[in-house]
Amino acid sequence: MRQSLLSILFLASATLLAGDPAKDLPKFQGGDLQKYWNDACARCHGFNGNGRDNNGAPLPDAGFDFTDSRKANKKKDSDWVKITLEGKEKMPAFKDKMSADDVQKMVAIMRKFSAK
Ligand code: HEC
Repeated sequence: MRQSLLSILFLASATLLAGDPAKDLPKFQGGDLQKYWNDACARCHGFNGNGRDNNGAPLPDAGFDFTDSRKANKKKDSDWVKITLEGKEKMPAFKDKMSADDVQKMVAIMRKFSAK
Protein backbone atom coordinates (compact mmCIF):
# COMPACT_ATOMS: atom_id res chain seq x y z
CA MET A 1 0.00 0.00 0.00
CA ARG A 2 2.69 2.43 1.08
CA GLN A 3 4.73 1.20 -1.84
CA SER A 4 2.00 1.89 -4.38
CA LEU A 5 1.25 5.31 -2.91
CA LEU A 6 4.91 6.19 -3.27
CA SER A 7 5.05 5.05 -6.87
CA ILE A 8 1.92 7.07 -7.68
CA LEU A 9 3.57 10.15 -6.19
CA PHE A 10 6.74 9.40 -8.09
CA LEU A 11 4.86 8.93 -11.36
CA ALA A 12 2.86 12.11 -10.90
CA SER A 13 5.96 14.21 -10.30
CA ALA A 14 7.89 12.45 -13.08
CA THR A 15 5.03 13.21 -15.48
CA LEU A 16 4.98 16.86 -14.44
CA LEU A 17 8.73 17.16 -14.83
CA ALA A 18 8.92 15.28 -18.11
CA GLY A 19 5.94 17.00 -19.68
CA ASP A 20 4.81 15.84 -23.11
CA PRO A 21 6.79 12.71 -24.12
CA ALA A 22 6.36 13.57 -27.81
CA LYS A 23 8.27 16.83 -27.35
CA ASP A 24 12.03 17.25 -27.79
CA LEU A 25 12.57 13.94 -29.52
CA PRO A 26 16.22 13.69 -30.55
CA LYS A 27 17.29 13.07 -34.14
CA PHE A 28 19.08 9.81 -34.89
CA GLN A 29 22.73 10.76 -35.47
CA GLY A 30 23.89 7.35 -36.61
CA GLY A 31 25.58 4.77 -34.44
CA ASP A 32 23.89 2.68 -31.79
CA LEU A 33 20.20 2.07 -32.53
CA GLN A 34 19.67 0.46 -29.13
CA LYS A 35 20.82 3.70 -27.56
CA TYR A 36 18.45 5.63 -29.82
CA TRP A 37 15.59 3.37 -28.67
CA ASN A 38 16.47 4.33 -25.08
CA ASP A 39 16.67 8.04 -25.93
CA ALA A 40 13.69 8.42 -28.27
CA CYS A 41 11.32 5.47 -27.91
CA ALA A 42 11.64 4.21 -24.32
CA ARG A 43 9.90 7.28 -22.87
CA CYS A 44 6.67 5.87 -24.31
CA HIS A 45 7.44 2.21 -25.06
CA GLY A 46 9.73 1.39 -22.12
CA PHE A 47 13.37 0.31 -22.14
CA ASN A 48 12.23 -3.30 -22.56
CA GLY A 49 9.52 -2.54 -25.10
CA ASN A 50 6.82 -3.62 -22.70
CA GLY A 51 5.31 -0.16 -22.24
CA ARG A 52 6.37 0.01 -18.60
CA ASP A 53 8.75 2.24 -16.68
CA ASN A 54 11.66 0.94 -14.60
CA ASN A 55 9.32 0.41 -11.63
CA GLY A 56 7.02 -1.76 -13.72
CA ALA A 57 4.27 0.85 -13.88
CA PRO A 58 2.46 1.19 -17.22
CA LEU A 59 3.53 4.21 -19.28
CA PRO A 60 0.58 6.37 -20.36
CA ASP A 61 1.47 6.59 -24.08
CA ALA A 62 2.80 3.08 -24.74
CA GLY A 63 0.12 1.99 -27.20
CA PHE A 64 1.65 -1.44 -27.87
CA ASP A 65 3.43 -4.15 -25.88
CA PHE A 66 6.38 -5.31 -27.99
CA THR A 67 7.04 -8.20 -25.57
CA ASP A 68 3.65 -9.77 -26.36
CA SER A 69 4.96 -12.22 -28.95
CA ARG A 70 1.50 -13.47 -29.89
CA LYS A 71 0.53 -9.95 -30.99
CA ALA A 72 3.96 -8.92 -32.25
CA ASN A 73 4.25 -11.98 -34.50
CA LYS A 74 1.09 -10.93 -36.31
CA LYS A 75 2.66 -7.61 -37.26
CA LYS A 76 4.56 -7.15 -40.47
CA ASP A 77 7.97 -5.47 -40.54
CA SER A 78 6.67 -3.19 -43.29
CA ASP A 79 3.79 -1.99 -41.05
CA TRP A 80 6.21 -1.18 -38.23
CA VAL A 81 8.44 0.71 -40.62
CA LYS A 82 5.48 2.67 -41.95
CA ILE A 83 4.10 3.55 -38.49
CA THR A 84 7.54 4.64 -37.26
CA LEU A 85 8.08 6.86 -40.30
CA GLU A 86 4.55 8.25 -40.63
CA GLY A 87 3.29 8.07 -37.04
CA LYS A 88 -0.17 6.96 -35.93
CA GLU A 89 -2.46 8.77 -33.47
CA LYS A 90 -0.24 9.44 -30.42
CA MET A 91 2.77 7.76 -32.03
CA PRO A 92 4.90 10.59 -33.46
CA ALA A 93 6.27 10.41 -37.02
CA PHE A 94 10.04 9.90 -37.17
CA LYS A 95 10.57 10.50 -40.88
CA ASP A 96 12.40 13.76 -40.17
CA LYS A 97 14.51 12.06 -37.47
CA MET A 98 15.48 8.71 -39.02
CA SER A 99 16.04 7.37 -42.53
CA ALA A 100 13.87 4.52 -43.81
CA ASP A 101 16.98 2.30 -43.74
CA ASP A 102 17.61 3.01 -40.07
CA VAL A 103 13.95 2.39 -39.22
CA GLN A 104 14.18 -0.95 -41.02
CA LYS A 105 17.16 -1.82 -38.78
CA MET A 106 15.22 -0.63 -35.72
CA VAL A 107 12.61 -3.31 -36.45
CA ALA A 108 15.21 -5.93 -35.48
CA ILE A 109 15.42 -4.31 -32.03
CA MET A 110 11.62 -4.29 -31.71
CA ARG A 111 11.54 -7.99 -32.67
CA LYS A 112 14.09 -8.84 -29.96
CA PHE A 113 11.74 -7.63 -27.21
CA SER A 114 9.36 -10.51 -27.87
CA ALA A 115 12.07 -13.06 -28.64
CA LYS A 116 13.21 -13.12 -25.00
C1 HEC B 1 5.12 9.99 -27.54
C2 HEC B 1 5.10 8.57 -27.33
C3 HEC B 1 5.79 7.66 -28.32
C4 HEC B 1 7.11 7.70 -28.73
C5 HEC B 1 8.19 8.69 -28.33
C6 HEC B 1 7.28 6.58 -29.62
N1 HEC B 1 6.09 5.90 -29.74
FE1 HEC B 1 5.75 4.28 -30.94
N2 HEC B 1 3.78 4.29 -30.42
C7 HEC B 1 3.19 5.17 -29.52
C8 HEC B 1 1.77 4.89 -29.43
C9 HEC B 1 0.77 5.60 -28.55
C10 HEC B 1 1.51 3.83 -30.33
C11 HEC B 1 0.16 3.20 -30.67
C12 HEC B 1 -0.41 3.90 -31.89
C13 HEC B 1 -1.77 3.37 -32.28
O1 HEC B 1 -1.87 2.20 -32.66
O2 HEC B 1 -2.74 4.13 -32.19
C14 HEC B 1 2.80 3.48 -30.91
C15 HEC B 1 2.97 2.48 -31.85
C16 HEC B 1 4.18 2.10 -32.39
C17 HEC B 1 4.34 1.05 -33.36
C18 HEC B 1 3.23 0.17 -33.93
C19 HEC B 1 2.97 -1.01 -33.01
C20 HEC B 1 1.80 -1.84 -33.51
O3 HEC B 1 2.04 -2.82 -34.25
O4 HEC B 1 0.66 -1.52 -33.18
C21 HEC B 1 5.68 1.00 -33.66
C22 HEC B 1 6.34 0.05 -34.64
C23 HEC B 1 6.34 2.01 -32.87
N3 HEC B 1 5.40 2.67 -32.11
C24 HEC B 1 7.71 2.25 -32.88
C25 HEC B 1 8.33 3.31 -32.23
C26 HEC B 1 9.75 3.60 -32.35
C27 HEC B 1 10.74 2.79 -33.15
C28 HEC B 1 9.96 4.72 -31.61
C29 HEC B 1 11.25 5.49 -31.43
C30 HEC B 1 12.04 5.75 -32.64
C31 HEC B 1 8.68 5.12 -31.03
N4 HEC B 1 7.73 4.22 -31.42
C32 HEC B 1 8.48 6.24 -30.22
C33 HEC B 1 3.85 6.15 -28.81
C34 HEC B 1 5.17 6.53 -28.97
